[in-house]
Formats: sequence, C-alpha cells, structure tokens
Amino acid sequence: MSPTYMANGFDAAESGDLPATTAHLLERRDRAMGATYRLFYREPVHVVRAEGVHLYDADGRDYLDAYNNVPVVGHANARVQRRVSEQLGRLNTHTRYLTDNVVDYAERLVATFPPGLDQVVFGCSGSDAVDLALRIARYRTGARGVIATRHAYHGTTTAAAEISPSLGPHNVIPDYVVLVDAPDPVRDGEGDAGERFRHSVVAAADELERRGHRLAAFIVDAALSSDGLVVEPTGFLRGAVDLVRERGGLYIGDEVQSGFVRLGAGWWGFARHDVLPDLVVLGKPMGNGLPISAVVGRPEHFADFGAHVRYFNTFGGNNASIAAADAVLDEIEGRGLLQRVSEVGQMLGNALRAATKGDAGIAEVRGSGLFWAVELVRDDGMTPHPERAAAVVNAMRERRVLISASGRDENVLKIRPPLVFGREYVDRLATAVEEAIGVSTRA
Ligand SMILES: Cc1ncc(COP(=O)(O)O)c(C=O)c1O
Repeated sequence: MSPTYMANGFDAAESGDLPATTAHLLERRDRAMGATYRLFYREPVHVVRAEGVHLYDADGRDYLDAYNNVPVVGHANARVQRRVSEQLGRLNTHTRYLTDNVVDYAERLVATFPPGLDQVVFGCSGSDAVDLALRIARYRTGARGVIATRHAYHGTTTAAAEISPSLGPHNVIPDYVVLVDAPDPVRDGEGDAGERFRHSVVAAADELERRGHRLAAFIVDAALSSDGLVVEPTGFLRGAVDLVRERGGLYIGDEVQSGFVRLGAGWWGFARHDVLPDLVVLGKPMGNGLPISAVVGRPEHFADFGAHVRYFNTFGGNNASIAAADAVLDEIEGRGLLQRVSEVGQMLGNALRAATKGDAGIAEVRGSGLFWAVELVRDDGMTPHPERAAAVVNAMRERRVLISASGRDENVLKIRPPLVFGREYVDRLATAVEEAIGVSTRA
C-alpha cells in the first residue's frame, strides 16, 4: 500500500522536477485545498478541456482517456450540454414540487431493470445513495451488521466509509462490518468459486452473530472493481446472495462501477450473476458528470422506510441533473452502445492479451465490456508486483494514454474508458500497454 493509500497516487517525494506551470498550480492547490486531495500519476496531468475520449492539456496535447467512467457518453457531450442548458433556462427545482422530467426519467430508468426493481429514489452521489440504501436495509431488518468485500470502496459518508476498507488502515471498520475475500482468479486454484465465496459469506455472517450483530445487508460491487476487477465466473454471487437472505439480510447491488452497460452484457452488472438485488445503488456515469445518483429497489422496502422516516434530498433529482441523466439514456440507446461496448470490449480484450503475451510477469488479462484488468506479478506468477503496475501506468501516461491501477495489492492495471471508446482507439491503447510493459522492469 502506498503512503497515500491510493494506487497511482502522486507523491511529491517521488516525482522529479515538474514543469513550472504544473508545479505552481500544485503549490497553490496544496495551500488552498490541503492534504485531503490526491492527484494521479508521478507527473500530474493538468488538463484544460476535453472532448469525446480525449483530454487536452494547455499545450493542446491530447491524452487518450482509457480510465474515466463518468463521462460515459463522451467528454463535453453535445446532447448532455444542450439538454442541461435548456433545462437550466426553464426550471431547476426539487422533488417537493410535481415536475414532469423527473417522473418521465424515473419511469424510463426503472424500465431498464428486471421486474421487481420498480421504484427509484434520487441522490447526488454514489456515497449518498449507498448511505440511503444502508439506512433502508437497517430500518427494514432492524439489524446493523453488514458484509462487504475485503478491499471494497463504497464512498465517503460515515456509513459508506465504514464499509470501504480500501480507504486504508486508518479508516476504521467497525465491529458490525465483516469483510470477505473476493474471488482471486490468480491464486484461488481449483474448485468452485461460487461455493468458496458462499462459504466466506457464511463465515462472515457467523462472525457477525458471534459479535452480537444480526445481518442487515450484504453489499457488493458486481465488478469488484476495487478488489481487482473480478467478473468471472458468472453466477458466483448467487449462493452468497441466497445465504444472505436466509440470514435475514438484504442484498445491496452497488452498480456505481458496473452499471449503465459498462460490462457489455445488459444494463446492470448483477445480471451476470443471475441474481436480483433488493436495492441497487447507481452513481458516477448516470449524469455524464453532473451529480446524480439513485437507489433503485423493491417497492416494499421504500414503502416501509418512506412511510416512517422523513427523507428529502435537496439536490437529489433536481431537474437539470435529471435532464443530463435522460440525455445519457438517449445516447446509450440512440448510439447502440450496449452492442458496441460488447464488440469493442472483445476487441480490446484480445488486443490486451496480444500486447502482454509472453511476459511472465502478467498473471492474467480479464474483464468484460469496457472494463479490463491486467494483473502484474513477480516471476513466481503469484506475488503481486505493485511497483511494476505503477511503472506501467506512468509509462503510459508519458505516452499520453490514461489508465490507473487498483486491487488489494495495487498490482492490477485498471482500464475503463468512456463507453463511446471506439475501435479506432484500441490500437493506440494496446500499443501503449505493450510499450509500457516493455520498458518497465520485471525484477
Ligand atoms: C463501487 C462504488 N460505490 C460507491 C462509490 C461512491 O461514489 P461517489 O464518489 O459518487 O460518492 C464509488 C466511487 O468511486 C464506487 O466506485
């Protein structure tokens, strides 16, 4: 774990001389904004504008964005811009008035979910939605215990941080939260991944009981993004979810990363596992950069909580953010992104495999849709190699291709471009991976 407790975090002590303008802005930022903030890369990227899948610096140099999952329909998307601007010029208020576009969008959004997940409550951020989902689960079950994955990230509110062990050792995980290991495709060996995962969840539920807590919820990101991106084998969540329900808990599907066709097989990541969450949390890509999030769920959960606990979120479901979210759905549907993500994703996966072939330090290339991981290990084929992952990420940044790293040991390259990433960009990305791997030392 790096001293900044973030994979690919900028560390002033490690970086060499920075360009004068970067150094100056950084110094002002540190003075005004303090120690809470983290930058990416050994040499931070100072961007001034963006368009489609490119970011541009002050000198007009383009950076291929193979990392950002918020501007899914492209940076500075014209439709999003127009719709938000029109809405801001007409009406932007909250959900205590009856307004059309919120209801239209709510109907449209829930129609993308399987029957049963029929209602939606809007928030402003993923954390905000995770927090609300936890409150509902706790209210419904009268219990407090939560099971989450070992290196999960679910957000910044107190309740979300309590289930986010990836925030580092100084972020306290309370005794009513028990962590389970995500499946590890490189080290787990033979056996049924689903059965193994179910066993871990049984043990976690037992541990909660031992500590005097009943189970309120099991929360899991269907892509296990922070745990190193584990999307196979499909169905491995099923047994764990059944067990959680037997023990009286709700299953909260965190789709902040895996939702909105990211995995290239349907709208939502949980569907890969043939399971139906009680509550689903949405965020990041939902508004292509405007703050909006949601909890989608079974009506009975909202009915009980909503009838007894007053809930109002001033900006959650504001008309301008809703206009952005509606434009995102227009773009996803109108541009056939579901199909395209799947096709370009397969192409990207093949290109990454070819680019890394023959290097004994690559344990695995895995992923789905436009979410790919390349796991780096030492010569034994097992031991994580975070230093090399950081070197590759930075060597790619030097080639103006932006990715990052993640995983429990920060040794997994994380490649997750906007959904409009077309086949014409696959080559540049794969070439940068190949070159960066070539110049990074395996030792
Ligand atoms: C899986 C997951 N859940 C929740 C969140 C929190 O979302 P936000 O940063 O919008 O609060 C994140 C953010 O990275 C996330 O990756």
